[in-house]
Amino acid sequence: MNSIISLESILHAHRHPFGTAPTLVVRAPGRINLIGEHTDYNEGFVLPAAIDKAVWLAVSPRGDEALHFQALDFQHSYLGTIQRLQKTEQHWPNYLLGTFDELLKDGHTLGGVNVTLGGNIPTGAGLSSSAAVESGMLFALNELFGLGLDRPALARLAQRAENNFVGMNCGIMDMFASLMGRANHAIKLDCRSLEAEYFPIRMPDHALVLCDSGVKHQLVDSAYNTRRRECEEGVAVLSTIFPNIRSLRDVTLAMLFSEKKRLRDVVLQRCKFVIEENTRVISACNALKNNDLGLFGELLYQSHEGLQHEYDVTCAETDFLVQLTRGDVAVSGSRQMGGGFGGCTLNLVRRDAVVGFQEKMQVSYLKRWGKNLKFHLVEITDGVEMVYSTPLVREEI
Ligand code: GLA
Repeated sequence: MNSIISLESILHAHRHPFGTAPTLVVRAPGRINLIGEHTDYNEGFVLPAAIDKAVWLAVSPRGDEALHFQALDFQHSYLGTIQRLQKTEQHWPNYLLGTFDELLKDGHTLGGVNVTLGGNIPTGAGLSSSAAVESGMLFALNELFGLGLDRPALARLAQRAENNFVGMNCGIMDMFASLMGRANHAIKLDCRSLEAEYFPIRMPDHALVLCDSGVKHQLVDSAYNTRRRECEEGVAVLSTIFPNIRSLRDVTLAMLFSEKKRLRDVVLQRCKFVIEENTRVISACNALKNNDLGLFGELLYQSHEGLQHEYDVTCAETDFLVQLTRGDVAVSGSRQMGGGFGGCTLNLVRRDAVVGFQEKMQVSYLKRWGKNLKFHLVEITDGVEMVYSTPLVREEI
């Protein structure tokens, strides 16, 4: 999604086809993940944050059972009804439809709505535009129909919508970050208990620079689901020896290596990565507490190494981008971010060197891969918020 969104523009865009002003407008941010990749579905720790790139959803109730959606960025619309929620070939409506499906399955009563959708989260860049859509839609429906759900409950529903309706077996990190983000803080999330601890990001001299490789791997969903299965295979084998383990969260490296012979090599590697990545999240939080940017950055590099050589979810372009930053005194750390096989690298760059950094990366990337490198400088923001509501809805909140 790449349109520039303002409240004015989305109010206008909603009024035009639907003939009515929206009752509410919600801003739902994308996310970065500082560290803790592929740990969420293993009940481990992650360290994400909501960012200043977001999806905006303008919503009005219809008084019937119809669902009318329009996506400004794709210039597409969708017409359906609440009684027949079916996956569409057009991809984007599924993220909205899945949220209705999950709420109805939980016995909530909903009515038809008009939804206008637009934003500036680059798609396929690993910034979780889909989780933002699901989180924002659920937040809006919760307000509109007075469902009384809290934000963690909305995050769980958003994850279920993605798992069950869209068919992507993701963990809860992205939705949780979108709904529970706090300005200038990273969230250390325990993905087993959903206990969240907020860590202030005090890096006045450093910027978070994303280098967007432009690579969108076609097989990302199936490869992701394969990684999940490999982790589950590890747990299944290990639990025959250690009956108390429920997920890789419960496994130490010593336990893993004691059963090395029973595990397929690939499974051993995947499990090792997840166990070490969990430890890295804890160390990264301590580094943040101690303002130790050197250690924090080193952990980012270690995370990338693991993603590249053990979890095998990087690609030549992102490996190249990370490698290019090594030895650059302006860069504290760099790694591929998100589900993998492309997308963005996250770079911690000294503010006074950002322009030079971009030039250097741009020139080398073009020379090596023959394509332009895009950059996103991100700030850490609050999670999903209501940016506009009619007086009626405001009174009810
Ligand atoms: C994707 C998924 C998340 C998480 C990351 C990897 O973004 O949606 O749940 O598993 O990959 O850390």
